[in-house]
Amino acid sequence: MTVAELVDLRSDTVTRPTAGMREAMAAAEVGDDVYGEDPTVNALEAEVAALFGHEAALFAPSGTMANQIALQLLVPPGEELLCDADAHVVTYEIGAAAAYGGISSRTWPTVGADIDPEVVARMIRPDGFFAVPTRAIAVEQTHNRGGGGVIPLDTLRELRGVADDAGVALHCDGARIWHAHVADGVSLSEYGGLFDTLSVCLSKGLGAPVGSLVVGSAERIAQARMIRKRMGGGMRQAGILAAAGRYALAHHVDRLAEDHARAARLAEAVAPFGVLATTVRTNLVPLDLTKHALDARALAAAARQEGVLISVLGPRTARLVTHLGLDDEGLDRALRALPRILAAA
Ligand SMILES: Cc1ncc(COP(=O)(O)O)c(C=O)c1O
Repeated sequence: MTVAELVDLRSDTVTRPTAGMREAMAAAEVGDDVYGEDPTVNALEAEVAALFGHEAALFAPSGTMANQIALQLLVPPGEELLCDADAHVVTYEIGAAAAYGGISSRTWPTVGADIDPEVVARMIRPDGFFAVPTRAIAVEQTHNRGGGGVIPLDTLRELRGVADDAGVALHCDGARIWHAHVADGVSLSEYGGLFDTLSVCLSKGLGAPVGSLVVGSAERIAQARMIRKRMGGGMRQAGILAAAGRYALAHHVDRLAEDHARAARLAEAVAPFGVLATTVRTNLVPLDLTKHALDARALAAAARQEGVLISVLGPRTARLVTHLGLDDEGLDRALRALPRILAAA
């Protein structure tokens, strides 16, 4: 089976640019973005800043770099970031906050999107004699390891209050904030107004090949530009990539509802086999196999035989992800294959 024939449910990062997106990329006006002269990058940055109601934004090559630039803006070396134990920034970014920013991090036990602001408030350590002072809190919207859960707006408002009371900053890893916006109907500017910085990604649900943005005040983004250059993230004729992002913003936000509906159908299909996928709100479908005869590796291997690729996140945890590259035909193949494999075990 060729890659194109496989139904790839491992991640929403596996999408390929559509024909329309490629046309927009080919037609992009470009310049040297390190000189600030790429009109398409400048337009993308202005557009994203406006969407989130902030003064400025900065295009970065990856979500990881966008997060790490933001954390370096908010937390000086030797000081502290608080986040969820499963947060991407401390789980999948290969220790970047410590390695590049000298940032100390402390985590609350993972609860996915069900954050209790009082628990976070109690963890904050003020300036003082011996303790590491807390400078920022980071949350993830939607929560990746939390199964695509959406943090409710009221919780975010309470967290903003907690941050303000303590004089610490609030960052959002908004790699999939578009999904939260579509699932809960909260405007992007409402989300934007609650955070000091956000990182938002174009190359997951939105289907662009590359790119995330850091969003914040003009002063912070000017500093972010320096940090990006220091980290080797200054790109030249990046308008080719920014054009894909602009196209994605225009064409691929509202359609996320289709991904959410397909994810819900996958969750329903596995439920009768004792595979828990009950909290599905967006495009991530975590599979808890603790009560099933198959472990995650065995399920993934059997699914692959049927032309369906899924992710193994732990011995008994697997994950399915819906995205722009999955159509109804691919969904139907997965809906036939997965229950058959689970029933046979
Ligand atoms: C929640 C979250 N944040 C950040 C990232 C990092 O993005 P990138 O892979 O572009 O570095 C990811 C990637 O999957 C993610 O899921």
